[in-house]
This record gives sequence, C-alpha cells and structure tokens, in this order.
Amino acid sequence: MSRTIKFIVVIILTLISLYTIGSWSEQTVINYFVSIISKSINPTNSTILIADISNKSSQKLPENFKIGISTSAYQIEGAWDADGKTPSTWDTLIHSHPELISDGSNADVASDSYHLFKDDISAVNSIGLQFYRFSISWTRILPNGSAINQNGIDYYNKVIDECLANGIEPVVTMFHWDLPQWLQDLGGLPNEIFIDYFVAYADVLFKNFGHKVKRWITVNEPYNYCIISYGFGIWAPAIKSPGVGDYLCGHHLLIAHAKAYRLYREKYFKMFGGEVGITLESPYYIPKDSSVSDKDHQRALQYRLGWFANPLFGTGGYPHVMIDEINERSKVEGRPFSRLPQMSEEVKKLILGSADFLGMNYYTSSLILINKAERDPREEPSWFSDSGVKESADPTWKQAKTFWLYSVPDGLKSLLNWIKNEYNNPPVFITENGWSDEGQMIDDDRIDYVNSHLLAVAEAVNEDQCNVIAYTLWSLFDSFEWNSGYTLKYGFFHVNYSSPTKEKTPKKSVE
Ligand SMILES: *[C@@H]1O[C@H](CO)[C@@H](O)[C@H](O)[C@H]1NC(C)=O
Ligand SMILES: *[C@@H]1O[C@H](CO)[C@@H](O)[C@H](O)[C@H]1NC(C)=O
Ligand SMILES: *[C@@H]1O[C@H](CO)[C@@H](O)[C@H](O)[C@H]1NC(C)=O
Ligand SMILES: *[C@@H]1O[C@H](CO)[C@@H](O)[C@H](O)[C@H]1NC(C)=O
Repeated sequence: MSRTIKFIVVIILTLISLYTIGSWSEQTVINYFVSIISKSINPTNSTILIADISNKSSQKLPENFKIGISTSAYQIEGAWDADGKTPSTWDTLIHSHPELISDGSNADVASDSYHLFKDDISAVNSIGLQFYRFSISWTRILPNGSAINQNGIDYYNKVIDECLANGIEPVVTMFHWDLPQWLQDLGGLPNEIFIDYFVAYADVLFKNFGHKVKRWITVNEPYNYCIISYGFGIWAPAIKSPGVGDYLCGHHLLIAHAKAYRLYREKYFKMFGGEVGITLESPYYIPKDSSVSDKDHQRALQYRLGWFANPLFGTGGYPHVMIDEINERSKVEGRPFSRLPQMSEEVKKLILGSADFLGMNYYTSSLILINKAERDPREEPSWFSDSGVKESADPTWKQAKTFWLYSVPDGLKSLLNWIKNEYNNPPVFITENGWSDEGQMIDDDRIDYVNSHLLAVAEAVNEDQCNVIAYTLWSLFDSFEWNSGYTLKYGFFHVNYSSPTKEKTPKKSVE
C-alpha cells in the first residue's frame, strides 16, 4: 500500500469511528465531506464512502467510479480575440447587447484561463480529483472555417499536457455553446451546413489531441442550447424562432454528433481507443397531482429527455408522441410539413447507438401539470405549447441563488432509474451537478447539495444497479454564467476578479 492510500484509509476509518461513536457533531462530518471524497480517490482504487448525515447510513461507490470537476471555455478563458481567435456568437451578442447580461459584464477576460490555465489545473489537483472536464473554443482552432490556427492547437496542447503531468484525465467537450460567428453568419444550427463544419472541426480535434484525450463529449445540453438560443432567442445568437428554429437546431445537432462519432470509430478508434459521447440535461418530472396520469408523465419525459435520448439510446428516431403530435399541430397551423424535421431510416440508423456513454447534467427536478386545452393555431408555437408541460417547485425544496435550481436529490435517483429502464441501462457519465449561492466562502449549502446528490447516485448504483460510471462537479470557479454574468456563484473556488492575477481561494467545501 502506498503512503497516500494508507493515509486515506486511516482518515476514513477515523472518521467512521468518530462518526459512529458520535463524538463529532453532524456538522463536522458534513464539513469534511467533500474533502474526504476528493482526497480519498487519488490516484488508485480506494473506495469512496458517502455518509448520509440524517440517517447515519453510508454507501460506497464502485472502485472504478470517477469524480471530477467541470468548466467551459467561454465562461473562463477570456482572451476573446487573442492569437488569431475570431468572435463566437457570445462575443458578438455581448459586445452589441450588453443590456442582455444582468450585471452588464462580459467574458472578455473572465478568469483569464487562456493565460492562467496552470492555476486551474493546480486547483483541480489540490482537491485530488481524477478528471477535469473543460471545453474547446471552436474559433481558437478554426477562426475562419478553413485554415487551422496553430496558436489554438498549441494552447490546448498545453492545457492537456498540464492535466496529464498532474495525473488528471482531460475530458473534453467540443462544443459548449460558443458557436463561431462565421458559422452563424451562414445560418448557424438551423442550417444543415452546420453538420459538415462540425464534423470537420471534430476531425481536427481528434487528429491533434486524440492520442492524449480519451474521452470526448461532442455537444453540451442540446435541449437548453436549442430552446434558449434558437427558440426563446435569449442566449447567443439570440434567434427567436420557438417551435421551429429550436427543432431544426436539435435535428442538425443530433446528425452532427452522430457523424462525428462515426468518424472517430472509423478513423481514430483503432489508433487511440477512446470514447465519444454527448451530454444531455434533464430534470426529473414529478406529477404535481392526480390530473397527471402515468401516460401523461411518460409522455412529458419523452418530450424532455426523449427528444434527444430516444434517437441515440432508445428505439431510434424522435419519440412517437412528438412526431405524431407536432405533425398534427403543424397541419392545423396550415403548414405544408411538420415543424419537427423528419428523420429518414438512414438518419435514424446513423444516430442510434452513436454514443459510448450518456453524459447527463443534472441540477434539479420539477413538479409538472399538463395543459391539455386546445391551442389557438394562430398563436406562436413552441416546445412548451407542444409538450403542454407546466413546471413548478415543491415549497419544501431548498432553493439556490439560481431561480430554477432546487435541491432534489431523489429526482436524480428517479431520473437515473428512468434512464436505466427506458434505454437498457447505458453507461451514464454525470457531467455536471452543482449549486449556486451568493459566493460565501462558508458554502455549507453546496456541501449539503453535493453530499446528498452523491448519496443519491450511490443508492442508484448500489440498490438499483444503475450503470453510473462518473460524477462531475459544476464548477471549478465562480465563473461567467451567461445572461446572469457573474451574479451566480457555482464555484468551489472563489476568484478575485479585480486582481490581474485572478487569485483563486478554496471555499469551505474543498478546503
Ligand atoms: C431516512 O431514510 C429513509 C429510507 O431511506 C427515508 O425514507 C427517510 O426520509 C430518511 N430520513 C431523513 C431524515 O432523511
Ligand atoms: C483498480 O481497478 C482496475 C479497474 O477496475 C483493476 O483492473 C485493477 O486491478 C485495480 N487495481 C487494484 C490495485 O485493485
Ligand atoms: C480570418 O479572417 C480574418 C478576417 O478576415 C483575418 O484577419 C484572419 O487573418 C483570418 N485568419 C485565418 C487564420 O485565416
Ligand atoms: C483582490 O485583488 C485586488 C487587486 O490586486 C486586491 O487589492 C484585493 O485586496 C484582493 N481582494 C482579496 C479579497 O484578496
């Protein structure tokens, strides 16, 4: 046994005995929770012990279960126009419409990871996590869609090498919402030309980094991205086309993902042996009252998670309820074809099974009612009127700073079980889970949130045999949170944004 392992075992045993004999207050155990997790899993196979504070029970996660932490390029890198990088849609939107950001801020500098990436990785290392999930800025690599920008390749090589030198596995997201402006100028995601450009981009990444990066995530959260960027038109590029543009966006994302996956399998897998997946996101839906039948409940989950998961992991193609109902509504609206694009058998086959794992971001759950009233066909369509889903929160749930974020760990367990049953228990890689607050250094609510959610994961794995393989905290830093600017703090590390060197200070959760 190495010294590290011995040290960990001693700490765990001490804590268990202290806990059992009740000589520490419950609070003390909670305080140590995240530190125990992180310090006990590095670098080999010690098991992870999770204590349920209220019930004095404990669960272990499997030996090869991995825990890591996540960021995304636009939220931390800054250097928005450095070394050949061209604007993404977020750069363009914020520079022309700062009023869309609640504190008027932007991410031109952010925590300056472009220059200070060594700090980031040293922060990950200081808490002993096994992997670091970050994303690549497309326009650093392909500023104009054609020539490769060597500066961008060099930058990500440095980041990846720094991870590897510290024994941290790089888990790389290719597209986390910072679409090249040059691609939006051609129509962006609703234009099918997106597919070819995405696959070409993926090819550059696989070719340059594939020998070092073994776990790829093509796209982050297609549901939110498409609904908010091309439906509501609030996120960049702020195209308002609900019930039309969002479905086109989703359609092209799925095909682009699948083609990138197939490219990897055909051209790179033999050489590199890595895995390629996608990150979806969903709350669990809980019927609010008996007006929501079991059929309504299942239908709602099909609209939400099934929109993207059924084509990839389910029966292939969009869920039947979506195909039939949106087609019917489109007819009533006097349209010549359905607002939900059709998938040919060939496209269904291309997409089905095109992921080695299901990345899942989970934050919260909601109570749902279904609006079954006939809709006036002259009204603007949307995913919301198509699905009829009306979400609300249980007043007993603890609320974070983010208005929609409530702590519902049971929802995560239910969601993992739903995925297991619906999609034949695919490997699930939880790619985000986290809590926002005012930024206080004593972040007990964050510790509580992580503890209860990890416990829910452990129960899903141990009691229900859900095939969950990893868990990722969101986020390393208090970072730029899109339209909320810097007002929502999700970080395990505080960042001094007024300092040119952006000092990072661990909060209580990771001290
Ligand atoms: C204790 O565990 C039981 C069974 O898992 C659960 O029903 C109950 O809500 C838990 N109690 C608390 C206070 O969390
Ligand atoms: C660690 O886990 C891996 C994968 O589960 C296994 O192959 C290996 O034998 C384990 N090593 C030890 C020292 O238990
Ligand atoms: C991309 O286009 C911009 C603007 O036309 C130009 O200044 C820049 O040199 C081009 N970069 C590359 C790498 O082709
Ligand atoms: C943040 O950085 C500024 C500028 O370097 C410094 O004056 C200030 O004391 C720092 N704040 C904290 C809390 O360390």
